[in-house]
Amino acid sequence: YNVPTAYNEFVKTYAPGTPEREAVAAAFKQMFNSTVDVPLYIGAEEIRTGKTKNMTPPFDHKHVVGQYHEAEKEHIEKAIAAALEAKKKWADMPWEQRASIFLKAAELLAGPYRAKINAATMIAQAKTVHQAEIDSACELIDFLRFNVQFMTQIYSEQPISSEGIWNRMEHRPLEGFVYAITPFNFTAIAGNLPAAPALMGNVVIWKPAATQVYSANVIMEVFQQAGLPAGVINMITGNSAMISDTLLGSPDFAGIHFTGSTGVFNDMWAKIGQNISKYKSYPRIVGETGGKDFVLAHPSSIPAQVATALTRGAFEYQGQKCSAASRAYIPASLWPEVKELLLADLASIKMGSPEDMSNYMSSVISEQSFDKLAGFIDQAKKDSDAEIIAGGGYDKSVGYFIQPTVILTTNPKYNTMCTELFGPVLTIYVYEDAKWTETLALVDGTSSYALTGAIFSQDRYAIVEATKALENAAGNFYINDKPTGAVVGQQPFGGARASGTNDKAGSILNLLRWVSPRTIKETF
Ligand code: ALA
Repeated sequence: YNVPTAYNEFVKTYAPGTPEREAVAAAFKQMFNSTVDVPLYIGAEEIRTGKTKNMTPPFDHKHVVGQYHEAEKEHIEKAIAAALEAKKKWADMPWEQRASIFLKAAELLAGPYRAKINAATMIAQAKTVHQAEIDSACELIDFLRFNVQFMTQIYSEQPISSEGIWNRMEHRPLEGFVYAITPFNFTAIAGNLPAAPALMGNVVIWKPAATQVYSANVIMEVFQQAGLPAGVINMITGNSAMISDTLLGSPDFAGIHFTGSTGVFNDMWAKIGQNISKYKSYPRIVGETGGKDFVLAHPSSIPAQVATALTRGAFEYQGQKCSAASRAYIPASLWPEVKELLLADLASIKMGSPEDMSNYMSSVISEQSFDKLAGFIDQAKKDSDAEIIAGGGYDKSVGYFIQPTVILTTNPKYNTMCTELFGPVLTIYVYEDAKWTETLALVDGTSSYALTGAIFSQDRYAIVEATKALENAAGNFYINDKPTGAVVGQQPFGGARASGTNDKAGSILNLLRWVSPRTIKETF
């Protein structure tokens, strides 16, 4: 198949004086000082229900940047009808035409929309410009470009034929609609979860996280500008339980493409189970959920590498990546040096509004998240087996700011070693060098999650041992690198255990879930 060769979008620097910095600064200013009114996008209609919620940047929560409208049950039913109507033509659209739309969306994001999507992600999700760039520009562009390549790989996978017989496979879309649920923390995931099934000929009803609607709205604009026909991707907002009950209760529900918490995914799975006899086909259930991602240093590792991995892995984007390092195991022999380097790094971190591009961190996403994190920090201040060695401060008067915090514990099963916190709080356990093998078992057995993990070692035997001992502990396993920052096409992303179905976003495996192949045998 002749398609443009996919490549990873080059990450721009945003260094002072660069045109990209000026463009994103101007977009930020303009968008921050105006308001948007986000409708429900159902078929060709933009519906404003009048039941609205304000959108406020989490780093400045008294400032309103717009509102969105909440759906009632009738709107969700209307979205199902609109999607199924659109499907009649979309499913038969030649694949090149579908691909062209998403390739055009990628080019719009790479060029004319880059400043806008990055500014939207900075405002809505409190990402620094660099974190926005690697997410809403580069990763989303990569998903769109690579998915086209993966699609043609799927289409070219054909059975063998023989004289007088032609066997072939048609990779048809699923019968019905796909429900996409996206989390606040990645704009790239917001774009990819509806776009991947749609590329394969499916129609989608998409519910972005409430704290993401502002940037999701820009993605809808990009899809529309790229020529996506009305009704192929419908964006709805409103009460989550009502929306999920309505969509999962429909006989036309064909699959769920989910990223979010393990608890919510489990609820979805249970609801799907309750409705299973209603559906026309067994639905595809694809989910990426939580993590409790580890960094494990061997006594042979290089302290500066470990300290940098912790600063970047645990605190970039305020620790709100599902891949973020949140528990670390450091050998006693290296601890004094790692500690000194880490604390020096953290002392240099500036925090504030993403508009000031010298800030390395900003606020956490919401008051709910802030209160939860503050509770864990307060508890650590009281507990005798925990000590806060960096940060520990928080302030929600203007934005939901939490200092980068390090808890040192003498208890490897301490609460914050096991529980997913989703914020800038790292817990460290220092182990005796001689207990390396026991520590491997500890890393494997401490958490029910298995998303990402990193080991640091200069000893190849230790690398071999850890790679084997931790084979089920992380779907993305890093050797001498931080556990965040997977790149589409390079490190297909996803975890097992309580971290999801491991259908690897950014790989052919994910796209395969959105087709229902038909085998055709023709004899002559
Ligand atoms: N792809 C994101 C990362 O690896 C989640 O950090």
